[in-house]
Amino acid sequence: MITKQKGTTDIYGLNGKKWLYLNNLIQDICRSYNYDYIRTPIFEATELFHRGVGETTDIVTKETYDFKDRGDRSITLRPEGTAGVVRSYIENKMYGDATQPVKLFYNGTMYRYERPQSGRMRELTQFGCEVLGCDDHYIDAEVISIPVLLFKMLGLRNIKVNINTLGDEESRNNYREALINYLKPHINDLCEDCQKRLEKNPLRILDCKVDGENAILKNAPTILDYLNDSSKERFESVKHYLELMDIEYEVNPKIVRGLDYYNHTVFEIEATVKDFGAQNVLAGGGRYNKMVEMLDGPSTPAIGFACGLDRLMLAIEKEDIELNIFNQIDCFLMYVSDTEKDMAVKLANDLRSNGIICDMENMGRSLKAQFKQADRLNSKFLLILNDTDLENNEVTVKDNVTKEEQKINIDELLDFLNVNI
Ligand code: HAM
Repeated sequence: MITKQKGTTDIYGLNGKKWLYLNNLIQDICRSYNYDYIRTPIFEATELFHRGVGETTDIVTKETYDFKDRGDRSITLRPEGTAGVVRSYIENKMYGDATQPVKLFYNGTMYRYERPQSGRMRELTQFGCEVLGCDDHYIDAEVISIPVLLFKMLGLRNIKVNINTLGDEESRNNYREALINYLKPHINDLCEDCQKRLEKNPLRILDCKVDGENAILKNAPTILDYLNDSSKERFESVKHYLELMDIEYEVNPKIVRGLDYYNHTVFEIEATVKDFGAQNVLAGGGRYNKMVEMLDGPSTPAIGFACGLDRLMLAIEKEDIELNIFNQIDCFLMYVSDTEKDMAVKLANDLRSNGIICDMENMGRSLKAQFKQADRLNSKFLLILNDTDLENNEVTVKDNVTKEEQKINIDELLDFLNVNI
């Protein structure tokens, strides 16, 4: 038997219904914010992620699925959505669109060669939003408010919003220098990865999973002490807009994010439900004002986030939330003879084209077993076809809740169902 690959999953049955529910909710929320749908390819040129996500990040150095295609091109399965969206923004010259800013959302699979565990997949699904061409401080708060609203609408109660700022280039460079100076004397007490990060990407040392509890890191200087006035002002203003929207948050200077492209606002939203496990960050994002330029586009401010939907599903399970999933059909068509079957086929076809949700018997079951099948499918009405009724252009309709039965003229069936469903 061929089995699925490590870190991948099959979604079917009740889970399939839950995923469809989640996808619909995401679409509705993005519609209410007036974000447009974008779909970019699952594979892109390897160079895009090296330049876009960052040469020194774990994602690019350790986790990408890279391969040569038959034309000897270096291809990478996308590990995240932002780089592809930015490439598309530049390639399709969206910066020239009449409607600005460009506000986009996506929902699709990403690929990271990580060690699989609960909440950490190799094929993962992210819903994300990106706003390009806008530096308004409110937009930072708006982008944070989208996953917050999603979690609220799903009924999640144990959620914590952590925000931080990495400041502008000047603030970040000053902080970088201060951090290197502080860490250098202690470098041998840090893990091997952190020793490598010191010169290349010292901020990443702060969210190291190995050294996280180390006192050296706990006492390290924080970015908040190195912000220049305009960066400070910007951060205050983002907090002001979050407060206007009643979004509770905590300022956590340890949030630096694992990708290179951020400046100013960064944030992570965690599930704080008991026993969730180590992979508890449900969504993360931030501002990346330099990335469009780095990928050869015009200088364009931008901000976005991505939410891990596999993890979100785990949080929904852990909090015992029952989603209002669609688990009912309107009609089940039942018959025994071939002439009755022909009518069932015609009727089902007709009703479906008028928006009625129908299923019909296809397993050669007895009438008694067909009643059971209708119950399993949660059918609201049973349409019982028999040759005598059909001669009178009628069908027996049974309400499967009240158990009332009546004969309805076939020409009036659609009206009857529309009124009663
Ligand atoms: P990220 O923090 O790498 O950011 O991923 C965002 C979310 O994707 C995480 O918070 C987590 O919920 C989920 N996730 C990441 N890796 C896995 C995995 N192996 N298994 C399951 N879920 C996972 C980004 O990807 C950025 N592109 C976000 C962004 C958009 N920044 C600006 N715009």
